[in-house]
Amino acid sequence: MNDILSIKDITKNYYTKEGVIKALDKISFDIKQGEIISLVGPSGCGKSTLLSILSNLDKDYSGNILSKDNLKVAYMFQSNALFPWLTIYDNATLGLKITNNMTKDNLEYVDYLFNLYNLNEFKNSYPRSLSGGMMQRVG
Ligand SMILES: Nc1ncnc2c1ncn2[C@@H]1O[C@H](COP(=O)(O)OP(=O)(O)OP(=O)(O)O)[C@@H](O)[C@H]1O
Ligand SMILES: [Mg+2]
Repeated sequence: MNDILSIKDITKNYYTKEGVIKALDKISFDIKQGEIISLVGPSGCGKSTLLSILSNLDKDYSGNILSKDNLKVAYMFQSNALFPWLTIYDNATLGLKITNNMTKDNLEYVDYLFNLYNLNEFKNSYPRSLSGGMMQRVG
């Protein structure tokens, strides 16, 4: 078996004052090593909900998720989710900072990415002064 991720019967309900919203109803699929998968569907069909579950941000669901040991999940949010009070450099390195991973190698990689995404000259700018696409790239 070369599945890196196998999800089975994922079901998710949101409980609101207005009632129960069934966002996911028994979703199942497998992802193999090297595969690129697109989740396509109309607005509100549950794509973001599923991504939140797969990235372990939402633990309130039923069903099973089997993943390869040590699978790392990176998730770029639909909205850029940047903190407005931090520069884009501080936003980009916040995860490293709070996990105590501000190592020389990691910070060099951050510099590499800032160059790759043409954001170098904006490192000390705040999100409000960036374009939508730039904010997405910071995210
Ligand atoms: N926090 C929440 N509380 C209550 N209902 C929610 C919440 N988040 C999402 N929903 C509902 O769950 C359903 C799925 O939402 P979701 O955001 O996963 O859709 P989506 O497929 O990502 O849509 P879009 O393409 O517009 O981004 C929608 O009916 C939405 O109203
Ligand atoms: Mg969405």
